[in-house]
Amino acid sequence: MKALLGRQMRCAAVLVCATLGAVSGLAAQSWQHIGDVSKVEKLADGVELTSGTAKVRVTAVGDGIFRVRVAASGTFPKDFSWAVIAPPAPPPIGIEDGKSEVRMTAGSAIVIVQKSPLLVRFTDLQGNILLADEPTLPMAWDGERIHVWKTMPADENYYGLGDKAGPMNRRNRAFTNWNTDEFGWQESTDPLYKTIPFFIGLRAGRAYGLFFDNTWRSVFDFGKESPDYFSFGAEGGELNYYFFSGPTPKKVVSDYTTLVGRSPLPPLWSLGYQQSRYSYYPEARAREIVETMRSKKIPLDAIYFDIDYQQDYAPFTVNRQYFPNFEKMIADFRSIGVHTILITDLHIKKNPSAGYAPYDSGIQNDNFVKNADGGVFVGSVWPGDSVFPDFTLTRARDWWGGLYKDFVAMGVSGFWNDMNEPSVFLRADKTMPLSVRHRLDDGTSLDHRAIHNVFGMENVRATYDGLRKLQGDERPFVLTRAAYSGAQRYAATWTGDNSSTWNHLKMSTPMLLSMGISGFPLVGDDIGGFAGSPPSDLLTRWFEVGALNPIYRDHTAKDTADQEPWVSGPEQEAVRRRYIELRYKLMPYLYTAIEEAARTGIPLMRPLFLEYPQLTQFYGDNRDFIFGADFFVAPVVTEMTDVETVQLPPGDWYDFWSSEKHVSAAALRLHPRLEEMPLYVRAGAIVPMQSVVQSTSQTPDGPLQLRVYPGDDCRGTLYQDDGHTFAYQRGELLRVNFSCHAAANGVSIQSVVEKNSFQPWWKAEEVILYGAAAAPRAVTVDGKGITSSRYDAASHSVTFVIPGGAHGWSAQIDY
Ligand code: GLC
Repeated sequence: MKALLGRQMRCAAVLVCATLGAVSGLAAQSWQHIGDVSKVEKLADGVELTSGTAKVRVTAVGDGIFRVRVAASGTFPKDFSWAVIAPPAPPPIGIEDGKSEVRMTAGSAIVIVQKSPLLVRFTDLQGNILLADEPTLPMAWDGERIHVWKTMPADENYYGLGDKAGPMNRRNRAFTNWNTDEFGWQESTDPLYKTIPFFIGLRAGRAYGLFFDNTWRSVFDFGKESPDYFSFGAEGGELNYYFFSGPTPKKVVSDYTTLVGRSPLPPLWSLGYQQSRYSYYPEARAREIVETMRSKKIPLDAIYFDIDYQQDYAPFTVNRQYFPNFEKMIADFRSIGVHTILITDLHIKKNPSAGYAPYDSGIQNDNFVKNADGGVFVGSVWPGDSVFPDFTLTRARDWWGGLYKDFVAMGVSGFWNDMNEPSVFLRADKTMPLSVRHRLDDGTSLDHRAIHNVFGMENVRATYDGLRKLQGDERPFVLTRAAYSGAQRYAATWTGDNSSTWNHLKMSTPMLLSMGISGFPLVGDDIGGFAGSPPSDLLTRWFEVGALNPIYRDHTAKDTADQEPWVSGPEQEAVRRRYIELRYKLMPYLYTAIEEAARTGIPLMRPLFLEYPQLTQFYGDNRDFIFGADFFVAPVVTEMTDVETVQLPPGDWYDFWSSEKHVSAAALRLHPRLEEMPLYVRAGAIVPMQSVVQSTSQTPDGPLQLRVYPGDDCRGTLYQDDGHTFAYQRGELLRVNFSCHAAANGVSIQSVVEKNSFQPWWKAEEVILYGAAAAPRAVTVDGKGITSSRYDAASHSVTFVIPGGAHGWSAQIDY
C-alpha cells in the first residue's frame, strides 16, 4: 500500500507541476487532480462548482458543519448513506462568489473554495485556517479511486478511526479500513474489525472533525507518506466528506454523533459484570459458574453462551445433549438476577433437507447473498459450509430479526453477533469474494467492495430491529464485532481477539478511548485476554481497570486456562471482587454517565484531551482516562517493577481510596500494591453511589450515597429510570442536580430535582462530605439542625442522612 501510494504521489507531484487538470496519456495509476473552477451555481444549502467534467458540491449541513461531494463524471449518484441518519439543521448561509474564490459562512465557520485550481479550506470566523487542501495536491481520482490531501501543521494531532490499535494519536502512521477477523492482533496489525472513517484533528486546544462517509476499502495516512500533509481516500465509491468545525473535541464528537446517531440507552443489567468463555457447556458447567459467583458473593449480571451451545454450530439451534433443560436453566439464572446472552453468528449452516428452518426459510425467501453468476454464495465458517443473509435488503433483515422469536420466548436477554466482518474460513482474503452481489431494496445490487464494511452493521441492525419487535418495550442488548460508523445505534462492541499479555492490557485503554470518541461509547475488551492464559497478577489488574470500562466482560478462548475471578486463589479473588463491587457501588454514577452518552454522544470513558483540550501535555497520554466527568483513572498496566508516575490535571483532586486531597499536585510517584488502582476524584465533584448488590436486579440496601468533594465548579447529577424499558423516552425518569459551595467557615450543598417522573429505590440520602478539617459545629438540613452527623478524622469526612427519596433540599455544614 505504501509503495503504491508513494508511486502515485510522485506521479501526482509531476502532474501538478505540469498542469492541474485533465491528464491523458499517462498510466491508469495516475491521479487526475481537479483543475480550475469554470462555473459556480448557488444551491439552497451551498454551492455547486464545475471543473472540467467534474462537479463539486459544498453544502452547509449544520452550524459550522460542511459537506463536500465530488462527482468526477459530473453526475452525482443518488444521495445515500448507511451511516448518516439526520444531518443537523443547516443554519442560514451567506455566499460570496468572488473572482478567485467562493466563500460560504454557516454559523461559526467558513468554507472557502479557491478557484484556480479548486482547493477547499475551512476557517473560523476570524479567518484562522482549521483545515485546508494541500496546495500542491488538489483532490483527485484515478478510475474508481479517489483521494484527498490536506496540509498537516507540525503540531496537529489526530484521534479516532475506531478500533485502530497502538497509540491514540494517529500521527505518523497510515491505516486501512477493511473489516477483518484478526485473531491475536498486535498494535501494528491493521486493518482490524471495524471501519470508522472519522477523526478529530487537535492542535493547541482547538479541534475539528472529519468524517469520510465511504464504505469501500479506504486509507488514512497521517503523515507516514510525508511530514507536510495527510491524506485519505478509497478504492471506489463517492468522494464525500463532512467537516465539523468544533471548536472543542466534545463539540466535534457531539456533532458527529448527531449526524450518524448515538447508542440507545442499554439495559442496566448489561452494565453489570458479564462472565463469558468459549464455551460454557454442558449445562452443569454453566450452572456451576453462576452458582460459584453467587456463593462467593461476586456480583454477576450476565453469562454468555458461545458457539458450543449450538447443534453443530448452526445458529438458532440448541445442542440438547449438552443443554437438555436450556429453557429451565435460563429461567433459573434469571430468577437469581443473571441474564443469558447467546451468540448467534450471522452465517447460516448450509443444511438442506434437514428441517433446519433458518436455512430452509432463507432459501425459500431468497434471502442469501449471491455470487456474480446468481448462485447462492457458500463459504466455510464454524458450521462448515454456510450461507450469508443479504443484510442490505430490508426483506432479509426482517426475516433475520424474526429468527430470534424462540430465543426471546425462552427468556434470553441479549445476543452476540460475531464473525460479521464477514469472516470466511479457508480463503486467503478471509472474507467473501469481491464479486458477490449484495441486493438493495430498489432492485439494484452492489458488489462486495461497496458493502463489505457495512455488512456487520446491517447484521446488527437486523438483530436490533428484530428484537425491538419481539421484545415489546424491553431494551435490546446486542454485541457486535464488526462495525461501520453508526453501528452504535444497534449494538455494543468489543475489541475482538486480544491476547493475555501485559502489552494487551496496556493497549486496551487507548483502544477503548478511541472507540468512544469515534461515536461508540458502549465498548469493552476481553478481560484477561482471549488468546492465551494470563498470569494471576495480570488478570487481577485487568479486572481493576475493566471495572471502569463501559462493558465489563471476562472472556477467553477455547483450550485456555479458566479465567473466572476466583481461579488464582483467595487473595487474588478478593481483589477482583473488590473491583467488581466497586463497579456496582458506582452504578448510579456510571448509569448517569451512560445516559449522558446516549443523549449527547460524549462517552463514559474519556481521553484526557476530551475534558482538558487545552492541556497539550496530555495529548500523548495513552494510559490514563477520565471516567464520567469527574474521575481520573491511572490504571496499572505493567508488572510494576518501576515506580508509576501519575500527573493529575491542574486543580485539586481527592484520592478516592484514602480521601487525601492533592492540591495542584506535581507528578505523583507511586508504588501501587496489587490491590490498588490509582483513582482520583475532582475537587468539585458530587458522586452518587450505592451499596453493593449481587446484580442490578437487586434493590440496594440502605440509602443513596452522595460523596461530596468540595472544590471549584462543584456539582453532580443523577439519572435514574426503570433500567430496562423505553419508558424513559416517554419521560418516565428522574434527574437530580446537586451543587455545593465551600466557604472558609462551611459548605452548603443543594439538591434540585429537575425531572421527577420515576420513583427511585432509596428512602434516604446519605451525604458524605470530604475535605472537612474538623467535626462541624452544626449541620442543618432545610434550616433544621440535625444531631446525628458523624465525623471521621481519618478520611476528613462528615456523614449525615437526609430522610426521603429523591427530593429538593439544601444542607449547611458549619465549621
Ligand atoms: C471469535 C470471537 C470470540 C469467540 C469465538 C468463538 O474468535 O472473536 O470472541 O469466542 O469466535 O465463537
